[in-house]
Amino acid sequence: MNPEIPTASLTGLHGCVIDAPEWGKLRSWRDGAVVIGDGKVLEVGDFQFLGKKPRPAPIRWLHSERAAIFPGLIDLHTHVPQYPVVARGRGQLLDWLHGYVFPRERVFTGPPGQREAAAFFPELARHGTTTAALYAAIYEDSCEAAFAAAAKSGLRIIMGKMMMDVGTYGTLQPRKVISVSMLESERLARKWHGKNEGLIEYAFSPRFALACSERLMREAAAMATQFGCYVQTHLAETREECERVRHLFRGCLDYTDVYAQSGLLGPRTILGHCIHLSERERRVIAESGAGVAHCPTANIFLGSGIMPLAEHHAAGLKIGLGTDVAAGPELNLWQVMRSAIESQKMRGMYEPGVPVPTPAQALFLATQGAAEVLGKGRVIGTFETGKEADVTVMDLSALAPYRGSAAKIEDMSAEDVLSLCIYRGGPHAVLETFVRGRSVFRSAEPELF
Ligand code: GUN
Ligand code: FE
Repeated sequence: MNPEIPTASLTGLHGCVIDAPEWGKLRSWRDGAVVIGDGKVLEVGDFQFLGKKPRPAPIRWLHSERAAIFPGLIDLHTHVPQYPVVARGRGQLLDWLHGYVFPRERVFTGPPGQREAAAFFPELARHGTTTAALYAAIYEDSCEAAFAAAAKSGLRIIMGKMMMDVGTYGTLQPRKVISVSMLESERLARKWHGKNEGLIEYAFSPRFALACSERLMREAAAMATQFGCYVQTHLAETREECERVRHLFRGCLDYTDVYAQSGLLGPRTILGHCIHLSERERRVIAESGAGVAHCPTANIFLGSGIMPLAEHHAAGLKIGLGTDVAAGPELNLWQVMRSAIESQKMRGMYEPGVPVPTPAQALFLATQGAAEVLGKGRVIGTFETGKEADVTVMDLSALAPYRGSAAKIEDMSAEDVLSLCIYRGGPHAVLETFVRGRSVFRSAEPELF
């Protein structure tokens, strides 16, 4: 956190201000400003007007003609313990999980696991991510350390201890797994849900139907309801997984019905992937109010498939984006936006009539769309006056073809600026990240602002 900015004073951000309040709608102020006070967006508009306006409180302007100012990026799905094994392995989901992921998660405990958990959160902020929904490993100690680090980071974090009782990498006797998993999850939820002035929330996190018994899923769902917590799980990522679920749960209509019958579907549920869904499943999910974490970089890495984005959207599903590390290679949501566009473009090369999302639609998925999945559409996601000031500031000169070519940047439209961020954006170009008006990451470059 940046102690130089007292929260009582006003902060003004000056640059190219861009947000996406609706699917397909881009709003921008090319020479714009966002005024922040008491952690909220007080004003947004043209700098020529807002910069001169007399104010009762002192205002500290952070200027840059090379700055592009976006609502904070929201990552709806990623795995804390998997970060060190990104870009590793071959093969599809189930082989990859057993060969690379479970061995990695198995050692995410004790002092090394706790230290690594703490290192994860500054990484999120450095990538311009202000809100993230995260899975920890099955262990209470490293999940606890991750929550403590999350609170210290100042980020908006939804997280839970991974729950699995079928084929788990844990060493507990099978008879004890469910009760221990429930007890530890309950303890973590009681301790952390709503902490850090509400920035930290708990998500009950049954891994997926192939790693969880019906009893575990039912108990997790009931406890999430009791505590008002989120639920997160994986759904229909690969055809092989769907096939196995069909064989294992013969009393259910389909994969989605497994979760519906367990009580896991509701407005606080985040479903990772959702690639291979029937029309019926789409309808059930939409009616439940659950949302989808679309993870295209991960889906391409594992060869899982291309999510039918337009069909999901037309069915009324709420959709946001996830980096899904380590199936996704980085915590960089700009590259997930790019992949969301390019994967539909590639699908269109083989299937006629596939709409390609625009840059504005990709930005919506990473901001307001994701906020709506979390039930926070009125709290974060755009620069609407009164919303909480979660902001990602990008350095356009670090993205331009010739570094430092500010003159060219001035000629760019807001659409050009957004497109440059989507196609070339990443942590090398994040200038500063704010959550509730507080700086949670600031680039070390000395000449900035
Ligand atoms: N399905 C169940 N667990 C996982 C996981 O850790 N990563 C991905 N991509 N899919 C999963
Ligand atoms: Fe995942």
